[in-house]
Amino acid sequence: MSVIFSGIQPSGTLTLGNYLGALKHFVDLQEDHHCYFCIVDEHAITMPQDRLKLRDNIRSLAALYLAVGIDPRKSTLFIQSEVPAHTQLGWMLQSISYIGELERMTQFKDKSQGGRDGVSSGLLTYPPLMAADILLYQTETVPVGEDQKQHLELTRTLAERFNNKYNNIFTVPEVSIPTTGARIMSLQKPDKKMSKSDANTKAFISMLDAPDTIRKKIRSAVTDSEGIVEFDPDNKPGISNLLTIYSVCTGRSPEELTNAYHGQGYGDFKADVGEAVVEVLSPIQEKYHELLHSEELDLILDEGAGKANVSAEKTLKKAKKAMGLGRVHQKRK
Ligand code: TYM
Repeated sequence: MSVIFSGIQPSGTLTLGNYLGALKHFVDLQEDHHCYFCIVDEHAITMPQDRLKLRDNIRSLAALYLAVGIDPRKSTLFIQSEVPAHTQLGWMLQSISYIGELERMTQFKDKSQGGRDGVSSGLLTYPPLMAADILLYQTETVPVGEDQKQHLELTRTLAERFNNKYNNIFTVPEVSIPTTGARIMSLQKPDKKMSKSDANTKAFISMLDAPDTIRKKIRSAVTDSEGIVEFDPDNKPGISNLLTIYSVCTGRSPEELTNAYHGQGYGDFKADVGEAVVEVLSPIQEKYHELLHSEELDLILDEGAGKANVSAEKTLKKAKKAMGLGRVHQKRK
């Protein structure tokens, strides 16, 4: 069985974008792959975090992973900071990363737009840690949304660089990006990605939004004045985004949906998109609330950390040896 790894930051409540672009696909993959799913809390601290909120977000994300259908009997679910090998290998990969290539990462450029002096250096060195997350498990495929593509390319570069320079330790992973839903856009500025850190809460649907909030947010999504439901991301980004959301939530193709709403304007269409999202998120929310404060959740995370530590330590040991770290014990004469 091939190995899958993916991670999500516990930096706020997940959005519909996180679900449709990533989480939803994790559930299908666990049937016939060896899957590791990680709550990457060490990535989250590259931006300022309130410590109590971070702790809540970590637990909340673990409950969401399970609520969408991640099955701990099939997949390993764990918290990054409970597996020390991540930061250890992260440091080693940072040492073979070039400042130039890290500065070219669009996510770093976006987040440091307001000037670099007050920006955490962790934001710059984030990609080698992400590479470590992936490479520790000899991952073959990484399912992510479109925005992580560049980080994955760097992961491949670092794996190849390490393998060529030291020893052939790491599997070079492939990225897997869904054909529909890989980039869900903001409901208020449909030329921007939907993001959990958006200051305008109307711009995103949180996976835990109440049904009426979801309906309202979709109703007030920015579209255009043409009144024609058509899939045309360049000229009609708002309507195309709603069509994508509707399509991934229902499994109906954008073409089928376009035909179904021909000549009807946006009112009914938006109401139906809202209902489709509510239908997908409601059962997840119900399970989430059952799990959030359960002891079962802690047991699953303990077991996950145990399993992840065993696999990660094996790779770390090989990588340290290849790089010449530590020492070799002398044999007694
Ligand atoms: P993060 O936490 O920002 O997002 C988690 C996942 O959700 C996807 N995603 C989206 N997909 C579609 N539309 C959107 N608007 C949208 N917003 C987010 C992301 O592509 C991602 O798959 N660096 C990563 C976390 C990470 C990771 C890893 C991922 C750390 N180590 C190792 C994979 C493997 C991040 O910040 O994702």
